[in-house]
Amino acid sequence: MPLRPNQRLKLDDTDDKLFYAYPRFVTHVDDGFIQQLTDLYRQRLKPNTRIFDMMSSWVSHLPDDMEFDHVEGHGLNAEELSRNPRLNHYIVQNLNENPQLTLPDQSFDAVLNCVSVQYVQYPEAVFSEIYRILKPGGIAIISFSNRMFFQKAIQAWRDATESTRVELVKRYFASVPGFTTPEVIAHKSTVPNFLQWVGIPGGDPFYAVIAYRREAQ
Ligand SMILES: C[S@@+](CC[C@H](N)C(=O)[O-])C[C@H]1O[C@@H](n2cnc3c(N)ncnc32)[C@H](O)[C@@H]1O
Repeated sequence: MPLRPNQRLKLDDTDDKLFYAYPRFVTHVDDGFIQQLTDLYRQRLKPNTRIFDMMSSWVSHLPDDMEFDHVEGHGLNAEELSRNPRLNHYIVQNLNENPQLTLPDQSFDAVLNCVSVQYVQYPEAVFSEIYRILKPGGIAIISFSNRMFFQKAIQAWRDATESTRVELVKRYFASVPGFTTPEVIAHKSTVPNFLQWVGIPGGDPFYAVIAYRREAQ
């Protein structure tokens, strides 16, 4: 188990659906973060493939100049998802209530999760689903910064530093046999936190933890 029971707790333990009942047409990270993520997607995703954008909203950060066969979205707010121009279809499902996805085995080339993994209370179940729906050789890209809805992030995430959060996501991958050893991309902010707290912009730090479903042996 990658987490102890107390590490899964949120300060606000009401149903997540209530917190996401109203749409938020905002971006949760700055332009620099989004540019790095879009560039990473451009490098690692293949055109004309099937993408699952897990814990998505009205934006997917996919490169405008790339076409995909199918982009399946998922999240908690239907209004946000219905406005996302990249999605062909979407599912509304609370992963903390039911982590099992109604998607077939080995049906996606890539699973993406952007700035949301901190809200997952049962990562071993969710990462097992990521593995199940990925085709052999398929990629999972989990990206995050240092921002969060603090009251909805699990205790393990709230208590961690930026680098121990990377270790946490690596542990989530390691909890499922069959993923490759995760690769980490870490671009820390160039301005120290205490200066950002007094209003000097530093650029959001960018982290991505990437693993592939191993090809069949
Ligand atoms: C910070 S937003 C990020 C949205 C999007 N990935 C982006 O890059 O803008 C967090 C998203 O996680 C989703 N989410 C939060 N808790 C969830 C849960 N328990 N089950 C499913 N989705 C959840 C919400 O729908 C929300 O859109």
